[in-house]
Formats: sequence, structure tokens, C-alpha cells
Amino acid sequence: MNKYLIFSFIALLAIAGSMIHPLTSSFLPDRFDGVAKATKTEKKKKKDFSFEFITAINDPSISQVHQPKKSLVSKIFIERHSGKNFDSRPISEQQIEALIQSARWSPSSFNDQPWNFIFCNRNTHPEAYFKVLDSIYGQEWVENAPLLVISVARSDFVYNQEENLWAHYDTGAAAMSMSLQATALGLMAHQIGGFDPEAIQEDFHLPEGHQPLTIIAIGYEKPESHDEETRERRPSYENFFFGDWGATL
Ligand SMILES: Cc1cc2nc3c(=O)[nH]c(=O)nc-3n(C[C@H](O)[C@H](O)[C@H](O)COP(=O)(O)O)c2cc1C
Repeated sequence: MNKYLIFSFIALLAIAGSMIHPLTSSFLPDRFDGVAKATKTEKKKKKDFSFEFITAINDPSISQVHQPKKSLVSKIFIERHSGKNFDSRPISEQQIEALIQSARWSPSSFNDQPWNFIFCNRNTHPEAYFKVLDSIYGQEWVENAPLLVISVARSDFVYNQEENLWAHYDTGAAAMSMSLQATALGLMAHQIGGFDPEAIQEDFHLPEGHQPLTIIAIGYEKPESHDEETRERRPSYENFFFGDWGATL
């Protein structure tokens, strides 16, 4: 009798314990399998992620001592890239709205938001689209991008009409927000500085004190054309210092 009582008590403890700790659930009947499977999938996902990050941060300029095993950098910064193989698939109104909001919520000096973005969608504004295309210096690859956005900086603060020394900086930050939002939507954004600013100023009736900075080509990238090896960076020690100019770790 006592033996049965002890055995039942141990069995009860095992079931209760395995409900708390999913690793032990392999001892349980089928109805508990879901817990174990979910845990395995989660583990697999985490492993895949860190592998990608380790590849991305394989930077020989960081000494082995400081080379982290896992980088905490978000995937979106690695995925964003300026490719040239655009697919002509159009962009939806909802996607355009998201691009606008991402730039709209960017930070700026005195919250002056010294930027304007002119959206030239080949489907909805073909005339404007082809005017932008004409202003770009010999870069045929742009023709496949369904959306061209002109980024414009306003040189003076609205609040006191004095020169805004951060206007370009802030407009660049807003353009970067838009580029990252494009990446998050599965799109690609490629900025272009090689265009005729006077043609844009004239054709798009920019008021005085407004300077076009870049054309941002946005669209889907052709599948399997992501060319990771063309992305290069200077070694970190050239651009990132610690505590003093030129000081490296
Ligand atoms: C302000 C600016 C102007 C650029 N102008 C051009 C351009 O005229 N033509 C071009 O093919 N790429 C242009 N690019 C893209 C850069 O070449 C690209 O960002 C750089 O090579 C880094 O590559 P990644 O964006 O893929 O990381 C420009 C980028 C910026 C930010």
C-alpha cells in the first residue's frame, strides 16, 4: 500500500514539474508535445539570427578581444542597401503613406522639420516622374524604379528666419528614416546625388531658399539580385574614436 502511495506521489511530481519546465516534456503524453515543439522552434530562430549578425560584423579592424560573439545591431541596418536592380512593380498608397510618416517623425533642430519631399510616382504622376528621370545624369538603372522622391532642404528656420545650419543634416536624417522604412516594407531605397539641381528647381517650382539634395529611387528589388559583397565600409578605427580624436581601443 505504502509503495503505491509513494509511486503515485512521484508520478504526480514528475507531471507537475514537466509542465513548469518544457525540456522535460519529452516524458509526457502527446497532448503536451506542443510545448516542446514551440521551444525547439524558438531556439532554432535565435540561432539563425545570431549567425547572420556574426557574418555582418566580421570586421577585421576590431581586435579579437573586442570582437563580440553576437552583435546587437538590428537586422534592418544590415539589410538596407543601395541596389540597382529594381523591379517595376508599383508601390501601394499605403506604402507611400508609411514612407511619409517615417520621415515626418524624424528629429530636427528646434523641431523645424526643414525638409520637403516631392513624390513622383510613375503611375499617378507620370509627367513629374519623367521630369525627374530627365534630370538624372546617365544612370539607366533608375528607369525601373516606380517611385522617385525629391528631397529638398529649407535653408532658414521658420521660427526666426535665420540660417539653419542643421537643415541638410536634418533632411538627411529624414531621408534615412524613409530609406529604413522602405527596407522594413520589403522595398529598396537608393539615393542619388548625380542629378541637375537647377533643372529640378525650375521644373518643380522650388521657392527661394530651398535646395534639392537627393533623388530617392524606391521600389521592389528583383528577386535574388541582392548583391551583398558590393557593400563595403572603411575599417571602424578610421571613423569611430573613444575618448579623444583618433583614439582607438
Ligand atoms: C547623398 C547620397 C548620394 C548618392 N548618390 C548616388 C548616385 O548618384 N549614384 C549611385 O549609384 N548611388 C548613389 N548613392 C548611393 C551610395 O553609393 C551608397 O549609399 C554607398 O555606396 C553605400 O552603399 P549602401 O547604401 O548599399 O550601404 C548616394 C548615396 C547618398 C547618401
